[in-house]
Amino acid sequence: MTVIRDARRDDLPEILVIHNRAIVDTTANWDENEVDLADRDRWFDQRAADGHPILVAEIDGVVAGFASYGPWRARSGYRHTVENSVYVADSYHRRGIATALLAELLERARQGGIHAVVAGIEASNLTSIALHEKFGFRVVGRLPEVGTKFDRWLDLVLMQLTLPVDPSASL
Ligand SMILES: CC(C)(COP(=O)(O)OP(=O)(O)OC[C@H]1O[C@@H](n2cnc3c(N)ncnc32)[C@H](O)[C@@H]1OP(=O)(O)O)[C@@H](O)C(=O)NCCC(=O)NCCS
Repeated sequence: MTVIRDARRDDLPEILVIHNRAIVDTTANWDENEVDLADRDRWFDQRAADGHPILVAEIDGVVAGFASYGPWRARSGYRHTVENSVYVADSYHRRGIATALLAELLERARQGGIHAVVAGIEASNLTSIALHEKFGFRVVGRLPEVGTKFDRWLDLVLMQLTLPVDPSASL
């Protein structure tokens, strides 16, 4: 059974493995050097300080994937907008885990007064584009050749889901 729950600090070693695999082998994450546990500790603390969720999908005691959102841009006027991410370990792909994570993440966004959720996706990542389309995200832009990895240029596709929120709602 898949359980979607808030991440705990002791999930970070498993999250780190999934995160570093995406850095080393994919263009889903545009970092090029693996990070260490201290980096994930700082990320965990920052999300907590911002009141932003980190969710994990746990299957039989194993962290199979995680999802989170954080600020889209730093200036205060952007506070109702976040950028989301979702990662699932290879051996758990195509079992609906990302779907379950994103469904709960978007529920948290609704509860948290978030108005716009932005996904920045490498243009050839058709799986992630299809995943986000399932939830109503639409492509709102494409930035050509703004990234580089594995000796080629990368285009960034921006997808957005807009949630109904009163702009005067306190956040
Ligand atoms: C993208 C990712 C999170 C999908 O995780 P997943 O748990 O396998 O996804 P799900 O099983 O919930 O499938 C969700 C949808 O994605 C699409 N999808 C999943 N695998 C696919 C594949 N191999 N080819 C095409 N579409 C695919 C489908 O639309 C699917 O919905 P459906 O099953 O109703 O048809 C996963 O492939 C991953 O972690 N990739 C590396 C990291 C990454 O790209 N993250 C997103 C960064 S923006």
